[in-house]
Amino acid sequence: MQEEQRERARRRIAELRELIAHHDYLYYVLDAPEISDAEYDALMRELAALEEKFPELVTPDSPTQRVGGAVQSTFAPVRHRVPLLSLANAYTEEELRAFDERVKRWLGTDDVQYVGELKIDGLTVALSYRDGVLVQGATRGDGITGEEVTENVRTVKAIPLRLAGGRTFSLAVRGEVYMEKKDFERLNRRREEEGEPLFANPRNAAAGSLRQLDPRVTAGRPLKVFFYSLLDLEGAPVPRTQWEVLSFLRECGLRINPHSRLCRNIDEVWEYCRYWEERREELPYEVDGLVIKVNSLAQQEALGSTGKSPRGQIAYKFPAEQAFARVEDIIVQVGRTGALTPLAVLTPTPLAGSVVSRASLHNEDYLREKDIRIGDVVVIQKAGGVIPEIVRAVKERRTGQEREFSFPTRCPACGAQVERPPGEAVARCIGLRCPAQIQEAVLHFASRDAMDIEGLGPALVKQLFERGLIRDPADLYYLQRSQLLELERMGEKSAANLLAAIEKSKGASLERVIYALGIRHVGLETARTLAEHFPDLDRLMAASVEELQAVPEIGAVTAESIHRFFSEPQNRAVVERLRQAGVNLRAEPAAAREGERPLAGLTFVLTGALASLTRREAEEEILRRGGKVSETVSRRTSFVVVGEEPGSKYDRARALGIPVLSEEEFLALLAKGPEVLKEKEGRG
Ligand code: IVH
Repeated sequence: MQEEQRERARRRIAELRELIAHHDYLYYVLDAPEISDAEYDALMRELAALEEKFPELVTPDSPTQRVGGAVQSTFAPVRHRVPLLSLANAYTEEELRAFDERVKRWLGTDDVQYVGELKIDGLTVALSYRDGVLVQGATRGDGITGEEVTENVRTVKAIPLRLAGGRTFSLAVRGEVYMEKKDFERLNRRREEEGEPLFANPRNAAAGSLRQLDPRVTAGRPLKVFFYSLLDLEGAPVPRTQWEVLSFLRECGLRINPHSRLCRNIDEVWEYCRYWEERREELPYEVDGLVIKVNSLAQQEALGSTGKSPRGQIAYKFPAEQAFARVEDIIVQVGRTGALTPLAVLTPTPLAGSVVSRASLHNEDYLREKDIRIGDVVVIQKAGGVIPEIVRAVKERRTGQEREFSFPTRCPACGAQVERPPGEAVARCIGLRCPAQIQEAVLHFASRDAMDIEGLGPALVKQLFERGLIRDPADLYYLQRSQLLELERMGEKSAANLLAAIEKSKGASLERVIYALGIRHVGLETARTLAEHFPDLDRLMAASVEELQAVPEIGAVTAESIHRFFSEPQNRAVVERLRQAGVNLRAEPAAAREGERPLAGLTFVLTGALASLTRREAEEEILRRGGKVSETVSRRTSFVVVGEEPGSKYDRARALGIPVLSEEEFLALLAKGPEVLKEKEGRG
């Protein structure tokens, strides 16, 4: 009976996988879906449910298994079986015609056809299928050796885990993984909201997304792919032309770009180039040129390569589109983390498909270096196609009316001091009451290692800010129950919980308070050192730069930063209001602290991936308990914590006889303190 059920499940699973693969093919390769998203989801859900019931029937090529890979600590090197060459460039019609002349001369014939393809601005991947199943994905690297990114590649939905139509060939293909412009912009918007650094262009976003040690991160990124070369093929007749290669790839379910064209001669090639040069902005993704390939593979073979690039192919690069614009003003924006970015306000100027009215000037040095002045005529272009940048000021057109811009020493959003440590390019506002930074500042203040106010997440902070209930972190201690109850999704219970969490945080240790203030260069460990050396916050606030620098492990930059922070009146005012609210600003006597610092005096080195914690989490757990984390194993190392696939640090630990902890032992140590390891330490 059970056997029968299993057999039925096996058949339905096979059927579902085939159906899903077929609809993936229609959707991703042919761009012609036949069922709705909801119907597709229903198939996936049915498959997942059956596989859950019969886990022994799960196979790696099942569409449910796209995200299954574990977090890695590095990418393994892969030697490409066929070197991945690059292309020579042509920038003008003449250069393109010279290429055609060369090709014909080498081949001794005028009978040459070409395939024109879009040159997608993404990153190269090489995929291997064995007996029809995807077995490996690699980046290009230097063309000889790349990095293995199989688990990441598997998460890209347009990449089939099996070749279409049950084909069981073994082959290797080359393609380009890319991100569409709108997806890139959406991703960057989200990153901006979350205070994460932005990607400069879609290509960087695609590359950064594919080169992720955690495949789940890649899975969350909207990556797409186009394939264009066959590197290797077994089990099927080898195509004779590039044009056949493209249709062969498509039949195999490997997505190809629809805008390729077969050209009978170089005149048609040139027509193709002009056509796309004008329309490149209409494409949903970025192309930085076109690739022109001799169609006959026998001819390509005969032409051979010049070491780095094949003689039968060339990239025609589009000239960067540029325009003149006038700088009407230079303004300074304050980001969520306090970074001040100068921006040029331009007379609205059409450029490459959109109207540009602003361009980032990045930072003060950039502005100086380019010597851009208010009133200047400047040359603008789109860097990598999307983000406008200023190429140069046209000094010949200066009238003498232009004004040099002086970088503000006060924050334009709040008036606090601006700090720019020596050697750093970015200037930052240090104000705790800066409206541009307040949400970020409050979130940090309330975070787990800081005041640990549970339930105070980004959505809530946003609401509190928008309703004018918080202007700085101290305002948290003055929130009223009635004010909270007016917020969206806030009931009696959650309001009471939040107020209780806020109340509880008043008793947090001094080191947490110091850390919570978000002083630049003052992380957890520095905050702890400071709390050990100053009996209370008042003494810290009053300390001179010299006094601060006299504290062990506090360097000049940090001392400067702390001193400047407390010299800012708005920051002192916030501290005053924290005091009035009853927040603890005193250090505990050393004896009371010992219990909180069970790992004091111990130094840890981490190697390999842990299953239950990320590297950063593990480090924080150690620091929080008073331990130290080091990058290198030395005789001073107390323990080396070893996860999956440890690196050379493990070997070094063994060579030096440093005690090694498994993940399990490490977790026990965190939970119960070093008592649990007495025996181990003795041995080491
Ligand atoms: S053919 C032997 N075709 O452009 C070189 N490359 O150096 C084979 N690219 O990084 C490359 N679209 O990844 C070819 N349709 C296309 C392409 C393309 C983008 C990339 C390629 C390489 C660069 C050329």
